[in-house]
Amino acid sequence: MTDAASQLFPPPPEFVAKARLDAAGYKRMYEASVSDPDAFWGEQGKALLDWIRPFTKVKNTSFKGDVAIKWYEDGQLNVAANCLDRHVATRGNQTAIIWEGDDPTQSKHVTYRELFEQVCRFANALKARGVKKGDRVTLYLPMIVEAAVAMLACARIGAVHSIVFGGFSPDSLKDRILDCDSTVLVTADEGVRGGKAIPLKANADKALESCPDVSTVFVVKRTGANVPMKAGRDISYEDSVAAASTDCPPEAMGAEDPLFILYTSGSTGKPKGVLHTTAGYLVWATMTFQYVFDYRDKEIYWCTADVGWVTGHSYIVYGPLASGATTLMFEGVPNYPSVSRFWEVVDKHNVSIFYTAPTAIRALMRDGDAPVKKTSRKSLRLLGSVGEPINPEAWLWYHNVVGDGRCPIVDTWWQTETGGHMITPLPGAITTKPGSATVPFFGVQPQLVDADGKVLDGATDGNLCIIDSWPGQARTVFRDHKRFIETYFSTYPGKYFTGDGCRRDEDGYYWITGRVDDVINVSGHRMGTAEVESALVAHAKVAEAAVVGFPHDLKGQGIYAYVTLNAGEQPTDALRKELVAWVRTQIGPIATPDHIQWAPGLPKTRSGKIMRRILRKIAADEHDQLGDVSTLADPAVVTDLVENRQNRA
Ligand code: WTA
Repeated sequence: MTDAASQLFPPPPEFVAKARLDAAGYKRMYEASVSDPDAFWGEQGKALLDWIRPFTKVKNTSFKGDVAIKWYEDGQLNVAANCLDRHVATRGNQTAIIWEGDDPTQSKHVTYRELFEQVCRFANALKARGVKKGDRVTLYLPMIVEAAVAMLACARIGAVHSIVFGGFSPDSLKDRILDCDSTVLVTADEGVRGGKAIPLKANADKALESCPDVSTVFVVKRTGANVPMKAGRDISYEDSVAAASTDCPPEAMGAEDPLFILYTSGSTGKPKGVLHTTAGYLVWATMTFQYVFDYRDKEIYWCTADVGWVTGHSYIVYGPLASGATTLMFEGVPNYPSVSRFWEVVDKHNVSIFYTAPTAIRALMRDGDAPVKKTSRKSLRLLGSVGEPINPEAWLWYHNVVGDGRCPIVDTWWQTETGGHMITPLPGAITTKPGSATVPFFGVQPQLVDADGKVLDGATDGNLCIIDSWPGQARTVFRDHKRFIETYFSTYPGKYFTGDGCRRDEDGYYWITGRVDDVINVSGHRMGTAEVESALVAHAKVAEAAVVGFPHDLKGQGIYAYVTLNAGEQPTDALRKELVAWVRTQIGPIATPDHIQWAPGLPKTRSGKIMRRILRKIAADEHDQLGDVSTLADPAVVTDLVENRQNRA
């Protein structure tokens, strides 16, 4: 453990004085949540949400056999009504969304009433194109207010949205549209990030060449670029909302009706459509938002994620809006036009709560303190971190430089599948340690197990499982419940396995150490090594590929690919560049390999299984710690790989 990690940061007394919960309060609520989940979550469900028909049942869940997870199952409600309608009467003129453009001269405020009207109009526009309850609508949008409008419009009429991050390639978009049989796409002419245009409509057109069932494409005008519109299929978003009425009653949704699908990467195969449902998800997003960020009425809250990831779903849109908060949506990037941008935005809009990813903090830290210190940041009260382990040095810089030593940090561990925060400090209650996500949120029961599933007690390292259900949990993989069970509940039967390794210290604090499966985390973006491998082998000159992550100073992990070429192909630098470009077009720029090593052979067991442990060690430049290689079919392969490794320190 580094010295930084052993420092303790108790909540500042002035923070505790005003906080929602102190240490005793956390303990009391946590105990109540696990000793009587029905009573605890019943009360929370009533307190946090408005119901069309109240629930009478609370928890009905099993992690065994067929794995069935239901919360509030006989209740009815509407997510958009909870995010908008109930606030219009009391805070109609309050800003719901502050939009800050990529260009610092562009920003706007949208009130709850305005957002409500926009959502109703677009919901009617969707209906006019035949969208009904249960239909899937794919969103491929930049960070503009219309993204939130489209999400809420789907929720209002019971359509299921599937957001595809704007950085994904046409191929990735196509796969996701086809997997969920979506017939409607919402996109924009172009996106804008860091002063550059992203050709979203052109990408969408390419994807749609292989999606004959898509019959409607709404195109939002973001830059005004001249994009081709296919007659009968493509329609202007602006024209269709202008023609639509603002009267659109919310659909009564069952608590367990689907709210959204979000594709995420796993150890094997293509990304899977993680499905979240209505009531439990919203309870979780709302409650974690309020307690973890200690949100106070009228505060300005800013999460820098993209709506294409789960963080954007739960903590830009659903949690904040259900809470009646003012949420800031940022179109740009941390270093444009300068590396002070984040802090300038904080000052411009008086942001109190700021939530970002360690990769951004590490990148900004590299530019030193001056770009931060020239801004005021006096509005900041709380800082948050998400997406990957935060190294203690970055934590301390975030605390001391960005937060002037004043603001508690909440390091929130969670996943697409968990719907919201799972292990995190509550800022008025929990003493933090740099690099630790600390303690479980209400209702979360972590357990560490060894490779054989033996439960480990006390201070130890292990694989992180959660032993009972919580309301925000994903219910299934869209149309593939078998894969859901296999992925999450079969490694350690009867438990949800997170895929993460974790250490618990003598104080019972949790320290996430990173994925123990073949998922990697590159700049906070989750990716399956199998996806990058299948992109590589789809190239005509590649025979075989194995991809692993390696430690990377800025990105957390980088992508290291071992490639075996087809017989007769020459391993040239030009081909290396070609393969890098190929992966970018197959998946998207986030999957760009950092290193490609030509591998005449890959280390395999006699049964043909690639020994990734060895490849990870070589990529990490730890080839002196390869361990036992005697079970390899051809140990000589390893010597070649070590000699030709790319990533020498
Ligand atoms: C990692 C993002 C350490 C972890 C919300 C997890 C973290 C994966 C943290 C999920 C954190 C997320 N500390 N690791 N605070 N937050 N992770 O689905 O490996 O994109 O399994 O969800 O990110 O990534 P996902």
